[in-house]
Amino acid sequence: MSQQSELCVGLALAMSWLTKSGWRRADSQVEQLFSVSDYIDLTKQAEAAKLDFVFRPDTLFLPTEMVAQEPGFSSLDPMVLLSAIATSTTHIGLVSTASTTFNPPYVVARQLQSLNWLSQGRAGWNIVTALDGQYNFGQQAMLPSEQRYQVAAEFTDVVQKLWRSYPNDALLYDRQSGHFAAAEKVQAIDHQGEHFAVKGPLNVPQYPSGDIPLFQAGASPWGRNFAAKVANAIFAATPDLQAGIELRQDMRRRAQQHGRNPDDIKVLPGLSLYLADDYEQALALYQSTHTTLTHERKLAYLAKHLDVDFSELALGDHIHADMLPSTQQNVHSHTHTQLLRQFIERETPTLEQLLTRPEVMGSSHWLVIGTPHDAVDSIVERVEAGAADGFIAVPGGSRQSAALFFDQVMPMLQQRGLFRSEYQGTTLREHLNLPEHLNI
Ligand SMILES: Cc1cc2nc3c(=O)[nH]c(=O)nc-3n(C[C@H](O)[C@H](O)[C@H](O)COP(=O)(O)O)c2cc1C
Repeated sequence: MSQQSELCVGLALAMSWLTKSGWRRADSQVEQLFSVSDYIDLTKQAEAAKLDFVFRPDTLFLPTEMVAQEPGFSSLDPMVLLSAIATSTTHIGLVSTASTTFNPPYVVARQLQSLNWLSQGRAGWNIVTALDGQYNFGQQAMLPSEQRYQVAAEFTDVVQKLWRSYPNDALLYDRQSGHFAAAEKVQAIDHQGEHFAVKGPLNVPQYPSGDIPLFQAGASPWGRNFAAKVANAIFAATPDLQAGIELRQDMRRRAQQHGRNPDDIKVLPGLSLYLADDYEQALALYQSTHTTLTHERKLAYLAKHLDVDFSELALGDHIHADMLPSTQQNVHSHTHTQLLRQFIERETPTLEQLLTRPEVMGSSHWLVIGTPHDAVDSIVERVEAGAADGFIAVPGGSRQSAALFFDQVMPMLQQRGLFRSEYQGTTLREHLNLPEHLNI
């Protein structure tokens, strides 16, 4: 067992069982995709299971070829959605994604601090540099990953300075003297940086729980370094055990290099779950959910992420590392490219094996197809191997798969003493065992 006795568990608040062909099931209730009541119900289930947080991924673009066949990135605005959920829940953390590439920091700082007040200290920020969407913001091309993270670092610094610019203890509400706030404590930040100029202060005071916890998604060297410096947790794509061990060891080492305790950053892989009462049913669920993923679509994925064309190869042909381009600078996501490259370098797989990898099948996440027991065994294996401090559950295929996660997987983890049976606090900082008030 790694140092931690209790896991940190989040749920992707994304109706993930509707993706691929999942929405076509008769009982999918896909018509509820934009209905807030379904998201509230789901969050309440996660709260009843005592999860640390729900986690809302987000993008600011829509590939139209995708919506022909599945919801794709069709999505309500995450801050608006989580604000509605905040008023119907009491304990669970609410983590919103906000991109540092396309938003102004003042707006993001204000939205998140507002969510923190609405939820009474339960807001979290998933910092992403985003995958796509520059054409919606008057930009010609996505900046290379390294530069996006330079912007992200300054953006995050500005947001944190804005949060602290109007400290909670400035509020006096002194009716007698007529002092609403101690104005001398509310300070401009006068930020003049390479990418942003922000005077401040923010016009929302800080909620008493202190700094809002930071999550980060993206695992290129620049993404890791950025996360190791500022984040409390990294949302990771680790399709296999080795990728998880490597990432967690590396993040702990990088955190130390930044003068932090390695336990200060939690590695939380996405865990894609296709659950049923027996393996055969779970496999059938997985297969029926992935019927639209044709051979051509999978080859197109490889072409996009590895910059190679394998369409002339036979399924039994082996893929060698020397068949890959020597450098891959301007790829979509270094994280996804590196995961595939490492697998090829390690295994020299056949094309058929490569095409069945989780990365190629639609998500780069750790994948469990099986019973709730299988899921628990896999979770225990990963944690014991030091490949995870918890996980973010992404139930797939059907609502039944999500129900089995809540009704069986989580109780089994509780029975084994791996997860809390009751909340010890009411804020996200408390759930994550963060020190009072300040992140670092
Ligand atoms: C597990 C995971 C989840 C991500 N979630 C989002 C998301 O919800 N929205 C988004 O715009 N980008 C998301 N990204 C993209 C990252 O923010 C980042 O832009 C991309 O991975 C490139 O960074 P990298 O080079 O460090 O991988 C995600 C990436 C990973 C690996």
